[in-house]
Formats: sequence, C-alpha cells, structure tokens
Amino acid sequence: MKALKLPKGGIKPRPAVLSMAPYSPPTGGRLDKLRLDFNENTVGCSPRVIEALKTQISAGQLAVYPEYSQAKEAVAAYFHVKPERFVFTNGTDEAIQVFVNTYVDDGQEVVMLKPSYAMYRFYSEVAGARIKEVAYPYPAMEFPLQEVLDAITPETRAVIFANPNNPTGTGISLLGIERILHRARKAVVMVDEAYYEFSGVTALTEIERVPNLFVCRTFSKVFGMAAMRLGCLFSHEANVALLHKAQSPYSVNSLAVTAAQAAIQDPAYVETYVAEVLAARELLCFGLEKLGITYVPSSGNFVLGHFGKRALEVRDALRGEGILVRDRSYEAPGCVRITVGTREQTRRLLAELEKVWNQ
Ligand SMILES: Cc1ncc(COP(=O)(O)O)c(C=O)c1O
Repeated sequence: MKALKLPKGGIKPRPAVLSMAPYSPPTGGRLDKLRLDFNENTVGCSPRVIEALKTQISAGQLAVYPEYSQAKEAVAAYFHVKPERFVFTNGTDEAIQVFVNTYVDDGQEVVMLKPSYAMYRFYSEVAGARIKEVAYPYPAMEFPLQEVLDAITPETRAVIFANPNNPTGTGISLLGIERILHRARKAVVMVDEAYYEFSGVTALTEIERVPNLFVCRTFSKVFGMAAMRLGCLFSHEANVALLHKAQSPYSVNSLAVTAAQAAIQDPAYVETYVAEVLAARELLCFGLEKLGITYVPSSGNFVLGHFGKRALEVRDALRGEGILVRDRSYEAPGCVRITVGTREQTRRLLAELEKVWNQ
C-alpha cells in the first residue's frame, strides 16, 4: 500500500479508513469498446427510458428536490411488494452502505464470502466492522453453505452475500438461504440479487415473513441503467422505517426514478434480453470447452474462465482487439470473468479468443 500522505498540518482520518486499501474504479475510455468487463447490459436500456428522459424532464422539475411517491407505487407494483417494504437507493452500493450504517457498529462482526462483490468489504471496513470471510472453494466455486453456517456465531451481527455471486456466477437455493437466515436469526442478512433476472432464484418473497432478511435489486444490470445509479433495498416494513432513518433523504435523483418508471413499463425488453443472454451463455461455454478452457458454470450474465498463467496475456490481447474482459486473478488464481452479452457479441469474442489462445 502507498504511504499515507497528509496535507501539511492535516488531520489523520479514522483508523478504519487509514487501514483500508484504496479501491480502484474502472478505467475510462470504455464506451467505444465491446464491454464484457463489468457485467452491464451490453445493448443498453429500453428505448422507452431514453424517450422518458427526453420528454418528461423539465427545467421546473430539475429545480425541485426529488419526489418519490409516484415512482415508489409503480416500482412496488412491478416487484409485487407494498411501497412501505423498500427504499430507493443510489445503486446497490448505497443499499449496502445504508444496511451497514443501520445495523453494524464499530468492531462488530460481518460475515461475507470471498471472492465476492468488493463493496461488502468496502462499506463494512468504513464502518470499522470486523470482517469474517468464507472462501468459495477453488476451482469449483460452489456456494460453501456448510462453511457459511459454521462461520455464523452469536458474535455475528450481519451476513452479506450475492445470489448469484459475482465473480463466480454460482448461486444458492432458497432452502440454503433459509438455513442461513435461521442460523443467523440474531443477525441481519442481506441477499444481493443484482443478477436475479438471469437466475430466477429470489428471497424477495420472504421479506414479510422473515424479520432479519434484506434483499436488494438493481437497475444497473439487466435494465441497462448503471449510469443512473438506482437500486432498491427491500425488507419488512418495520425494518424499512429504520433504514430510512439512516439514509440521506435525497440520495436518489429525479432522473433515476423517471428512468425506472419507464423501464418497468417495458418488461418485454428485459425478457428478450435475458433470453438472448442465456442463449449467448451457452454459446460462450461451448466455445470455451472447444478451446479446452475450463469455467465455472454460471447463473449470471457472466462466466468465470480458468486461463491459468495466461490470464493477463488473454485480457491484454483482447483489449488490443477492442474487447474488454475482467482479470480476477488477484482473488481467483488464473481466472478471467467474461460478461455475456448477445450471441453476436459472443461470437466476436470467441473468434478473437481463439486466435489469442492458439497462438
Ligand atoms: C453482486 C453485485 N451487486 C451489486 C453490483 C453493483 O450494483 P449497483 O450498480 O446497483 O451499485 C454489482 C456490480 O458489479 C454486483 O456484481
């Protein structure tokens, strides 16, 4: 880690912040490339979203602080929940932050998995939590249910995991989640369902019944709206009232909620995209098999391939051809994560990969 630099006469930050490794966000210049590196929607959002942003946003509207009630009604109906059972968040990232801020104090234990989405650790570290990590078994990367159950003790304050998980693509059944919820009944449990639409497994139906369950969804992935930064954090309505207390009142902007309302009016767009990705995922896996590259079977819109010592070489060579994929070797040795887009995009990727791999 780089040595700490303070301005002359500057004040040291909190020890929790001081000891954190800096997080490196994606580099710029991705727009003109085939972006198979961040699990985004590779064809973009529904045209209805763009239309709504063009026609429904006025100067008057931009001058006032956002109002959420109409959008909440619409989004609640889409997710089949009552509006009292969720908060809008500035992406899943803010959902994780609000969840941690509401429940986790300095020094309390948060159980999470590794490798997983970096922001669970990030916000837990900022809060000064003690982090207990359970490893996905390498190379199969199946959800380590027994190990997670064993890691949960009376000391555990929160458990956070993604279903399906990024970057492994592996998921856990609702029965497995029930076991975790029961074992962690004295703790809060957050299930991040950023890739739900590709897996079809959800715990959202259980929030009314299970008092320690929190589920988040995002508009960043299948809806193709990562730039808008909109997520939803669901729980029992009594918990949601507490989450509201710990959340900034206007963290979600008016453009995001306008866009979301348009997006949910076009469910066919999402269904078509999911069907395309699932077909493309088969194509990708078959293509990897033909090249002799092993991979982790995925229930998300991405696949983690084992490239061994050639991981970085493959990533760099593909980048040279305008195709971005994500090296994950720093947390999963020899692994590169490839986002699945359309079949056409997958064919282009496979054609380039074949050249690189057989060189
Ligand atoms: C598991 C998981 N959750 C959440 C996110 C990010 O979601 P958002 O854009 O809503 O903050 C990602 C993005 O890669 C992810 O992989």
